[in-house]
Amino acid sequence: MEIKKTWYKEMAVYQIWPRSFCDGNGDGIGDLEGVLAKLDYLKDLGIDAIWFSPLYPSPNADYGYDIADYKDISKDYGTLELFKKVVEEAHCRGIRIIMDLVINHTSDEHEWFVKSHDKDSPYHDYYFWRKGKNGKKPNNWKSVFEGDAWEYDPQLDEYYLHVFAKKQVDLNMDNPAVREEVKSIMRFWLDLGVDGFREDVITYISKREGLPNGAPLPVGTGLEHYTNGPHVHEYLSEFRHDVLDHYDCFTVGEAPMMTPKLARTFIAESDDQVLNLMFHFQHQEADCLMTDWIHTPFNLRKMKKAFSTWQKEMYGDAWNALYLENHDHPRAIDRFGSRKYHKQSGKMLATMYILQCGTPFIYQGQEIGMTNFPFSSMDQFKDVVTFNNAKVFAKIGITGDRFIKLAGKCSRENARTPVQWDDSANAGFTTGTPWFPVNENYHEINVAAEQADPDSILNYYKKLLRFRKENEIAIYGDYTEYYPESSKLYVYARSYEGKRLLVVCSFSEKPVRFTAPEGFDLTNAELVMSNYDVPYRSNVFITKPYETRVYLLG
Ligand code: NOJ
Repeated sequence: MEIKKTWYKEMAVYQIWPRSFCDGNGDGIGDLEGVLAKLDYLKDLGIDAIWFSPLYPSPNADYGYDIADYKDISKDYGTLELFKKVVEEAHCRGIRIIMDLVINHTSDEHEWFVKSHDKDSPYHDYYFWRKGKNGKKPNNWKSVFEGDAWEYDPQLDEYYLHVFAKKQVDLNMDNPAVREEVKSIMRFWLDLGVDGFREDVITYISKREGLPNGAPLPVGTGLEHYTNGPHVHEYLSEFRHDVLDHYDCFTVGEAPMMTPKLARTFIAESDDQVLNLMFHFQHQEADCLMTDWIHTPFNLRKMKKAFSTWQKEMYGDAWNALYLENHDHPRAIDRFGSRKYHKQSGKMLATMYILQCGTPFIYQGQEIGMTNFPFSSMDQFKDVVTFNNAKVFAKIGITGDRFIKLAGKCSRENARTPVQWDDSANAGFTTGTPWFPVNENYHEINVAAEQADPDSILNYYKKLLRFRKENEIAIYGDYTEYYPESSKLYVYARSYEGKRLLVVCSFSEKPVRFTAPEGFDLTNAELVMSNYDVPYRSNVFITKPYETRVYLLG
């Protein structure tokens, strides 16, 4: 099958969650000066694009995912002028810039929302303002973050809808004026030179007409009426044709509860395509049910099944977004790898997902194997989701230390500790007081130490990204999984223009016997990546803890 080659398929993307990346002005908060200072580091890592989590002015009810002005940069991070400099400096280094586009909701402090309180203003219909029904809320929807999905305004005697936090007000995308605003925001950033968008919960933007009651759930009641809603393709198609098609740019949409079959209706390459890539969540459920907070033991078979299904279903005319970590999940080594075998499992996990077919995304700190944070008291938490879950779990008696322990495992705040740059005070993240606690393990896990260690996770990432860039098979090759029933080994092959790549990953600290799949003679293959010294080639071997090997066969 002929695959269309293009730049966004060949790149590797690095995600910056700006508040915790690097502080350039000593106020304890990461910023764009800090980013500028690290561009050479990112270039050296071998990434081709940066996705910035929101940089816009925001009251930070959800750390930037509550935008108060779509066409400016938050004072916490710098200025629009400084952002332009970042774009220019990044482009000079061959690094593209991807902005986070959060258009399902605005902050309640956005001027549109402030003006919407006037019933006669055109802004009133930018949001879902509704009268109560029989003295009750307009419907039974619950927020996915914070209690009910409706907030009452006594002056207006109306409620507004918020699927996320109270301060994240859902936009009414059915209103053509709102869609024009979205297009204007897109053009603003594209004209400024950015190369694309990561689109936040983009499959939530179309709500079912009449906002009917949903089937009761502990959180998120009503989500069947806005997940992949009736007009989502139509609106995205409008954005594509009116804006995106006029630029050399790309989009990746975040899509909770997405299935491969449905994803194809968004991302398969055709005249109807509305997004380039999609972040789905299916492999994230390998150690939980629906949400990270309902934890289950890690199940490799579940993870492999999710990855393999997406690999198979997208191959040829659609493209995968590959990721293990982002700002919404605990650190991968603590979920799928091992603290004891930190280095080995960090490298194995990188190999496992980066060599699949798709565009890999790497979250800040992942490349040095940053880990979860040892939370010990409630005042260390800062996230609306953690606070809401404290209430939810209290209902079933999980409070105090039991809750802190649970949050220490499940909360996305684990991914939000400052990046560990070196072993100086505050891990070199800031000269001031860090806005969020720094993980004490920065004395061992930090960029400077890993730069100096040829055998570090960081140097392994560099080698892996270089290998991917230099070998088209790692980008465009097809994918076949072997031993899907194994609960310890993940084995797959890629093949392209007569070459084959075999990827072997052990998810166990115990020895596992591996036999080369039929048709693969490893005694003659080139071993191109491994996290151990492999003294000799053979078709049968016993794995070391979290071992990975990648063979190239002619
Ligand atoms: C998904 C984002 O990744 C997450 O961080 C945010 O809280 C929600 N969308 C709401 O914007």
